Amino acid sequence: MKSSIAVVVLAAGAGTRMKSSLPKVLHPLANRPMIQHVLDNAAALKPTRIVGVIAPGAKDVAAAFAPYPTVVQKKPLGTGHAAKAALGALRGHTGPVLVVFGDAPLVTAASLQRLVTTCAKERAAVGVLGFVAHDPSPYGRLIVQRGILEKIVESKDADEIEKTVDFCNSGVMCLDGRLIAGLLGGIKNNNVKREFYLTDAVALARAAGHKAIAVEGDEAEFQGINSRAELAVAERALQQRLRAAAMVAGVTMIDPDTVWLSADTRFAADVTIGPSVRFGPGVEIAAEVEIKAFCDIEGVRIGRGASIGPFARIRPGSDVAENVHIGNFVELKATRMGRGAKANHLAYLGDADIGAASNIGAGTIAVNYDGFGKWRTVVADDVFVGSNSSLVAPVHIGKGANVTAGSVVTEDVPAGALAFGRARQVTKKGRAAPLRAKLKARAAAAKRGKKK
Ligand code: UD1
Ligand code: CA
Repeated sequence: MKSSIAVVVLAAGAGTRMKSSLPKVLHPLANRPMIQHVLDNAAALKPTRIVGVIAPGAKDVAAAFAPYPTVVQKKPLGTGHAAKAALGALRGHTGPVLVVFGDAPLVTAASLQRLVTTCAKERAAVGVLGFVAHDPSPYGRLIVQRGILEKIVESKDADEIEKTVDFCNSGVMCLDGRLIAGLLGGIKNNNVKREFYLTDAVALARAAGHKAIAVEGDEAEFQGINSRAELAVAERALQQRLRAAAMVAGVTMIDPDTVWLSADTRFAADVTIGPSVRFGPGVEIAAEVEIKAFCDIEGVRIGRGASIGPFARIRPGSDVAENVHIGNFVELKATRMGRGAKANHLAYLGDADIGAASNIGAGTIAVNYDGFGKWRTVVADDVFVGSNSSLVAPVHIGKGANVTAGSVVTEDVPAGALAFGRARQVTKKGRAAPLRAKLKARAAAAKRGKKK
């Protein structure tokens, strides 16, 4: 029988190098807090419990862990001390306990699972994910002899020979749930940093005659985030993963490196995305949609066959139905576009509801804000709104109505009506030339006056 897994997430470190009032693990990656990535990967293993270890007073961090419980590490006395704080929450758990770091969001669920599975197969009391480091200097070194992990030596405590080892500790550790309390209880702080190192659990297990192992993984997964520069490096790595996954799922990207995704961006097959497109949170795109270059899209469901951009901006609360056309320099905010509706050039549609097959002319503005309140513009199906019209909300334009170009619409328009909201044109025959002569003379007189 497979035993149940528990996961402990350490997130009580100070994170001072971020120089931020926002706790480090709440900094976003792909528009989702760092800690959420760690929790999603942990949850993929279907553990029976996940416990967070957080610093005193870190209310926002506790909220980000919800629905999972958190315990408080009263003082940051080291990773071993932090893990020990979770023991109470692990009571009665006899399966493997995975300890992961809240600031290492790139570790994949597959790697976590591999560690747990290998530990079970090898009957190891302790297992760690290790990697061959480009630059081992910041990491704990894994001292392996004849396939057995004998101990982990922190960089600051390593002797000259140990310093030459490039097989390093990722920080991810799997401990036997029946032994964890005894192992953590034995950790002392007799080291350079005067900290209780979780890594000492390895030597303690070996001294008690238990097996310990290291499972090798890819360095790219184990980058921890301590600074804004490392945050940017992690963002790039995560974006590359998200783009690759989208392409595998059938999305064409003309220039993938310039497409920025959110962790929750969802695509159906045969979507095409042009260069320099950003997807904010909450976007779901159906099949055969084309997003042309330089669009910024957030909080919208886009229906099958729609065409968006170039240079379109879609803001949250929007819904774009099948076969809609949104063209250049069109902004939508909290706006629903019905099936086959079009807004092809230079429009602002905020808090609007545009019916199926309606056409919104170039330069149309849904005037949604009066300085105090926001109001809705409702355009029914099959309406034609001529160019450069202002629809002053709240306003309703009935089915099949026609609003002439340049109109300022302040009153509801009934279905099928033709609405003019503009001054009537006055035409004076033969008066162009005299007007020009008059204007020319006036300009010349002004010039002479300046010279004097
Ligand atoms: C740790 C490992 C090191 C490994 C490296 C990988 C130890 C002793 N060392 O070192 O072998 O190569 O990670 O990046 O474990 N934390 C707490 N409470 C504390 C201290 C830390 O919750 O009192 C949390 C931090 O929030 C962080 C994680 O533990 O999420 C790691 O702590 P950190 O101080 O960064 O460990 P390193 O010195 O980098
Ligand atoms: Ca670290």
